[in-house]
Amino acid sequence: MSTTERTYIMVKPDGVQRGLVGKIITRFEERGYKIVALKFVQPTEEHLEKHYADLRNKPFFPGLIKYMASGPVVAIVFEGLDAVKTGRAMLGATNPLASPIGSIRGDFCLAVGRNIIHGSDSVESANKEIALWFPEGITEWKSVFENWIY
Ligand code: PPS
Repeated sequence: MSTTERTYIMVKPDGVQRGLVGKIITRFEERGYKIVALKFVQPTEEHLEKHYADLRNKPFFPGLIKYMASGPVVAIVFEGLDAVKTGRAMLGATNPLASPIGSIRGDFCLAVGRNIIHGSDSVESANKEIALWFPEGITEWKSVFENWIY
């Protein structure tokens, strides 16, 4: 397991509109994850269709694209030990009602179509998503706290 594993996390339009960006970032930072990329962006439908390409045959796909394009999102890459799997555990289940209290979705939302946050589901997806959302590349930096986290 690597301390430089990266995951793509996105605060969805409802999370941004509801003012939850700070709380969400705080949870990851407090856990020990380091921000290595972050931007506020109004995604196009075309870009979102690429991000969700694997879901294009699902009945909810058009609604998902419309919802995700309805306002700005915050695109983030967090780095740290087991970032993908632990990041998903921090998010909770896709359906907020099935998410444990203490997880982000379990604490902040109720409906699957308004579940406030996305997180990569595998290292392979994370690499693809990071390349899609940050084609300009990522700034490498070392935190002075790292020796106290690992
Ligand atoms: S599936 O059917 O198992 O592939 O779906 P799942 O892995 O659970 O979810 C994939 C993404 O689709 C979103 N999703 C939905 N959005 C809107 N409406 C409905 N009904 C719905 N069902 C699933 C879900 O939140 C996942 O998106 P991300 O961005 O990863 O959260």
